[in-house]
Amino acid sequence: MNRQFACGERRDIILRRRPSPSVLQSRCIPLVRPFFPVGITQPTRTSKHTVGGRAKLSLPDTHVNLTYRTYSVYNLFPMHLAPFALERYFARYEFASRYLLCASDCDGPSLHALLAQADEETTALWQSLTLGYTESQGLPILRQEIANLYTPESPLLSPDDVLVVVPEEGILLTMLALVKPGDHVISTFPGYQSLYEVARGLGADLSFWRPREEEGWRFATEDLSTLLRPGSTRLVVCNFPHNPTGYLPPPATFRRIVDLTRRAGAVLFSDEMYRGLELPGYSTLPSAVELSSGAIVLSGMSKTYGLPGLRLGWLVCRDTSILQICASLKDYTTICTPAPSEILALAALRGRNQLLPAHRERVIYNLHLLAEFCARRPDLFQLIPPRAGTVCFPRLRCAVGAAQLCHETAHRAAILLLPSTVYGYGDSHVRIGLGRVTFPDALAAFDEYLGAGGP
Ligand SMILES: Cc1ncc(COP(=O)(O)O)c(C=O)c1O
Repeated sequence: MNRQFACGERRDIILRRRPSPSVLQSRCIPLVRPFFPVGITQPTRTSKHTVGGRAKLSLPDTHVNLTYRTYSVYNLFPMHLAPFALERYFARYEFASRYLLCASDCDGPSLHALLAQADEETTALWQSLTLGYTESQGLPILRQEIANLYTPESPLLSPDDVLVVVPEEGILLTMLALVKPGDHVISTFPGYQSLYEVARGLGADLSFWRPREEEGWRFATEDLSTLLRPGSTRLVVCNFPHNPTGYLPPPATFRRIVDLTRRAGAVLFSDEMYRGLELPGYSTLPSAVELSSGAIVLSGMSKTYGLPGLRLGWLVCRDTSILQICASLKDYTTICTPAPSEILALAALRGRNQLLPAHRERVIYNLHLLAEFCARRPDLFQLIPPRAGTVCFPRLRCAVGAAQLCHETAHRAAILLLPSTVYGYGDSHVRIGLGRVTFPDALAAFDEYLGAGGP
């Protein structure tokens, strides 16, 4: 029973005999408990169904007829992660550029403005705030407020279905909790790199679900069906509204994605960081957590709310055993969320009906300016208008590649665009971000730069 597990190996534990309840408690559980995450003393669920590739731990005098699926929390290292190209690019240029034309967040309210619109309870919490450690799962009233975002008319979620995380951390924790070497994982691509890179780093067999640009960046469910390997695909990762194309599937298509994933026996990880910023003609999709009891959803304050400096997001899932694994792994990353961020996030969520319409109006206005600009410069950009979110991904029509264009624009004019090369998606597109107040000035500066001879 003291078998050592290799790094990166999953620790599902299989007991090879159905023990009686008393034997289970007195003999089996104590034997396997050392392999449980700290703080967890009982398996949460027994199942006769197994998902392949576990380390097996046999008990003496056994017959196969029962599987105990426990926890698989020790996938931490080694992981071979490629550099995060987009984040490295921003690290180099973001704060050295005067004009940001590619930011994916909205400009959000100032601290002063956020507190000025806070309700009485939140204001009192802010005024009495101390800067100690916070509850690892997240402040209960914040988790309640987050739970309220999902099917508010007939609540599905309770605060226990929510784990507060840094958004990027939520991706890491989910992958560590679910993916082991050799697992088949499908991810929308191009995309935010960690959504697939962490799985690849963990040794997953990765398939990319690519959009059809000629069909308005449509992610075709026919293509997803072809990629799925029923019974062996472990995880499907999707991100709608999509970074970087701004694509949003129709609700019926999203339901089909959820359904296809479920029927293939895979878990859906739905990155909904840009949810709530739908453009005219498109309505907010139901969240994957509303459609499937097994789906895991990531969202947060960074993009739609314009508060990335809070470093606050959440995972929601109706299968609390998955959240427990993530919570257990979080002890190795941030442990808990900064206390001021929790209160400020609460203020923003409670004030969302004032905040979000203003952000949406700004994106609509900036998109209108960009569309005019593209119409005046058909030699430069071919724009497929985004349906939701803050970003879009025009194709370049000039002779210069995206990397060179962006490099020269940054160096010569301090204007920042994002080349498709950081997405590993060729050299023919740039990402444009529509959520910033300064977008009109940045676009005018870019126009002027082009007029003066660049690129
Ligand atoms: C699709 C997507 N998911 C997750 C994140 C991570 O969010 P954060 O930077 O707030 O951690 C981003 C950030 O750009 C993103 O675009």
